[in-house]
Amino acid sequence: MNESRVTVVVDSRYGTTLALAKAIAEGAGSEGAEVRLCRVDIHEPEFSVDADREDFVAAQAEYRDLPRATADDLAWAQGIVWGSPTRYGLMSTPLRAFIDEVAPLWRQGALIGKVGAAFTSTGGMHSGNEMTLLSLLLPFMQHGMVLAGVPHSVPELVRTTKGGSPYGASVVTGFDGARGVDDNELAIARALGARVARLSRQIEPEPASVELAAYAEAPD
Ligand SMILES: Cc1cc2nc3c(=O)[nH]c(=O)nc-3n(C[C@H](O)[C@H](O)[C@H](O)COP(=O)(O)O)c2cc1C
Repeated sequence: MNESRVTVVVDSRYGTTLALAKAIAEGAGSEGAEVRLCRVDIHEPEFSVDADREDFVAAQAEYRDLPRATADDLAWAQGIVWGSPTRYGLMSTPLRAFIDEVAPLWRQGALIGKVGAAFTSTGGMHSGNEMTLLSLLLPFMQHGMVLAGVPHSVPELVRTTKGGSPYGASVVTGFDGARGVDDNELAIARALGARVARLSRQIEPEPASVELAAYAEAPD
């Protein structure tokens, strides 16, 4: 079996998005992929989280131990899965800042032909869960990547009563966070990671665009 390389990039405060990231990494690993699980830098005002919540303290201790994602982690991988908590129906600012930071990869066409997939965690059931997944998938298209979602052959996608969708892995935590992450949501996340690993093995790398390469080399 050919090995594939999968990078999972996560932003998380209370640990639910992190739980999905770990399940995705586990799923990719179960298909023989080499996996890097990385975090982004969080520069957010204190008032945007409840820093006294036990789940916040525990999750941050684990989160801050992860390596900080770099452009090299994306260039290295054949499959990239990124996710953040839902913020106003969109991805979070820290993850978005990381995506902006790796813009040189776009100029080089370095991610063309790789596989991309997304995950998120939302307080409410119909409060931006799927829209956030779509917002996370759009930058992959700008990079010329191939999108991977979750097919309905994954039984938990049919059974789920809260998170998980064809657009990616997700959690619905409840507005106080009390609903946590359930087994269906974790199974869907593992299935997504496994699928990204399998698809990454099958896709042939494509040459970077000639025009992009010329732009990168043009004298100023
Ligand atoms: C500034 C801000 C905006 C948020 N926007 C939404 C939202 O649009 N919809 C929603 O359901 N939850 C929203 N939430 C709740 C988060 O999505 C929720 O806390 C998240 O699931 C926690 O993920 P984590 O455990 O990985 O930190 C928001 C929270 C904050 C702090």
